[in-house]
Amino acid sequence: MNFQTTQPNERPIAVFDSGVGGISVLKHIHALLPNEQLLYVADSKYAPYGNKTAQEIQSRCFEIADFLIAKNAKALVVACNTATAAAIDEMRLRYNLPIIGMEPALKPAAAATKNGIIGVLATTGTLKSAQFAALLESYGRNVEVVTQACVGLVECIERGELNTSNTKNLIKQYCAPLLAEGADTIVLGCTHYPFVRDVIAEIVGKEVILIDTGAAVANQLKNRLELENMQSVQLRDALPKKPKVQFWTNSSANNAKQVISQLWGESADVLVF
Ligand code: DGL
Repeated sequence: MNFQTTQPNERPIAVFDSGVGGISVLKHIHALLPNEQLLYVADSKYAPYGNKTAQEIQSRCFEIADFLIAKNAKALVVACNTATAAAIDEMRLRYNLPIIGMEPALKPAAAATKNGIIGVLATTGTLKSAQFAALLESYGRNVEVVTQACVGLVECIERGELNTSNTKNLIKQYCAPLLAEGADTIVLGCTHYPFVRDVIAEIVGKEVILIDTGAAVANQLKNRLELENMQSVQLRDALPKKPKVQFWTNSSANNAKQVISQLWGESADVLVF
């Protein structure tokens, strides 16, 4: 499969994450920008990022960005809260193309909460980051924010274990402190977690609002492409009928294609790097 093209706007948008979690964001991008070619990199060999140093994460992000730019990417989406917190500033200094990142949805959660108590589920790296401290400073002043690092949950999702008793027990354990504090709104601050949204909803109850930023990131990407005049111009004759979505992984798991297809929702074209 080849993304070489003489039309600059027909180059792919590249999306990456520490692993398969960013596929939750990719789905929103594909739904909002159905004519765009998409490349996705799951850095699963190095997942989770949540317990790595900022320097380690930056060097992973540089390696992946170099790979994706060599594949002709016209824009990069860092579909990972942890990587955004650790590396987005350095990436923007280093690369000359639009780079969209993401952060836990504290702002919409502060607008949505009725009782003023917000829970945040995220990785240790995100919760410890300066970016998260700045978010709290901006949007956490008039609300109570209860944070919980979900150690081990990303690994379950990487294995495709969305509904096992082990996964459910972890989620129960991590939601308990948020419920004990009375949170009526919970931020899914890691792109892996939307894949267990139903399990979380079952545990916390229907009345608790769950918020993630996948749709907002897709919107931001669309606006940025429009602003820079970089949208696909849909040269129907030159393009295949169905835009390509190509997945790359460095996972050594035999079932990597199966897990990616499970999360993507249909059989995925998966290559190994
Ligand atoms: N999906 C990621 C995030 O949004 C990273 C999870 C991890 O690798 O620890 O934070």
